Amino acid sequence: MARKLTLFFSFFLVAWFTQLQRFLVFGHGEPKVPCYFIFGDSLVDSGNNNDLNTSAKANYPPYGCDFPEGVSGQNLGFKNFTPPYNTATNEDLSTGVNYGSGSAGILEDTGCHLGDRVSLERQLKNHESVVTRLALQLQNTEEHLKKCVYIINIGNNDFINNYLMPNNYPSSHQYNLEQYADVLQKHYTQHLKTLHRLGGRKIAVFGLGMLGCAPAEIEKYGTNGKPCVEWINDAVSIFNNRLKPLVDELNVVLPDAKFTFINMSNILAPRGGEPLPNKPCCLVREDGQCIPNSIPCPNRSLSVYLDSFHPTEIANRVLAQRSYTSIYTEDASPYDIGRFARES
Ligand SMILES: *[C@@H]1O[C@H](CO)[C@@H](O)[C@H](O)[C@H]1NC(C)=O
Ligand SMILES: *[C@@H]1O[C@H](CO)[C@@H](O)[C@H](O)[C@H]1NC(C)=O
Ligand SMILES: *[C@@H]1O[C@H](CO)[C@@H](O)[C@H](O)[C@H]1NC(C)=O
Repeated sequence: MARKLTLFFSFFLVAWFTQLQRFLVFGHGEPKVPCYFIFGDSLVDSGNNNDLNTSAKANYPPYGCDFPEGVSGQNLGFKNFTPPYNTATNEDLSTGVNYGSGSAGILEDTGCHLGDRVSLERQLKNHESVVTRLALQLQNTEEHLKKCVYIINIGNNDFINNYLMPNNYPSSHQYNLEQYADVLQKHYTQHLKTLHRLGGRKIAVFGLGMLGCAPAEIEKYGTNGKPCVEWINDAVSIFNNRLKPLVDELNVVLPDAKFTFINMSNILAPRGGEPLPNKPCCLVREDGQCIPNSIPCPNRSLSVYLDSFHPTEIANRVLAQRSYTSIYTEDASPYDIGRFARES
C-alpha cells in the first residue's frame, strides 16, 4: 500500500501553465511581459524529469491529450512555449524557462524515494546560472529580470511524498502539522528571498489545492461520508494559512518587489451546481498515473482530475483564467497576474 500511493504529483501536466502563458504571451498580439519563469513540481513540469532517473514522469499518452501540441514531454521544444530548463538554448533564456520538476518539493529530500528530481533549491541554482548566462547576452540584465513574471507552484510533494509517508520520511515523527508548516514556511521564505536576490520582482506564489479531494487520497483514506479526506485538507490549510501572511510580509520587507498569493483552493472550489466527481478521467495504474496509451474519458470537461492527482485541462483553464484575472478577491491577493503584466 505504501508503494501504491507514492507517485502522485510526480509527473507533469502542462495544461495550466501553458494556458497561463497564453494570457501572458500570446494573448492578443504583442507579449504582455517580456519573460516568464516557472518554478514548481509536476503541476508545472514541462519535461525536466524526462531524462532523470525517476518514475516521476508523464511523457506518454494519454498525458497531453488536451494539449494542442500533444504529449508535451516530447514537444515542448516549440518556441511558443516556455521550454524546460534542461533543453533550453541560450536563445530561449531571455524569454524565460521552466524549472519545474515532478516529485520535487520545498524540502530537499521530498520525493527522494521516487528517484531523482530538482528540488526548489536546485531550481533556484539553475536560475542563478541562467541569470549569469543572461548577463553575457543582455545590456541590462537587472532591468530585464525586473519585468519578468515568476510563478512558483510547489509544496504538494512535501505532503504527499514526504509528510504523508511515515515509512519513508522522518518528518511526521519529528513534527506535528503546525510545526511542519513552520519548517516549510521557513525554507520557502529563504527560497523566495533568493529569487528576489536574483532579480525577481513580480512573483506569484501558489497555495496548495485541496489534496484531500484527490481521487488517490480518497481511495487511500476514505472520506467518512464527506466528499473529501478532511484531515488532509486541514493539514494543507495550515500550510496555506502560513503562506498568505508570508507573501504579505515579503511585500513589506522587500518593497521593490511585488509578491502575490494565488488561492488555488478557492479557485478550484465547486461553486453552484453539482460538484464534479472526484474521480480520475483516465484509467489509472496502481500508482495513480494514467495507464500508458489508455483511452481517457471522452468528455474531459466533466472531470476535474485527469489521473488520480492531476487536474484536467478544463480545471487548469479555470486556474489560469482566475489567477490571471481574479473573479473573487480571494483568488489572488493582493494582485492578480494580469496586474503584474500591466504594471511595469
Ligand atoms: C536509477 O535508480 C534506481 C533506483 O533508485 C537504481 O537502482 C538504478 O541503478 C538507477 N539507474 C541509473 C542508471 O542510475
Ligand atoms: C483560500 O480560499 C479558501 C476557500 O475559499 C478559504 O477557505 C481559505 O481561507 C483561503 N486561504 C487563504 C490562505 O487565504
Ligand atoms: C461535455 O460536457 C459538457 C458539460 O456538460 C457539455 O457542454 C459538452 O457538450 C460535452 N461535450 C461532448 C463532446 O459531449
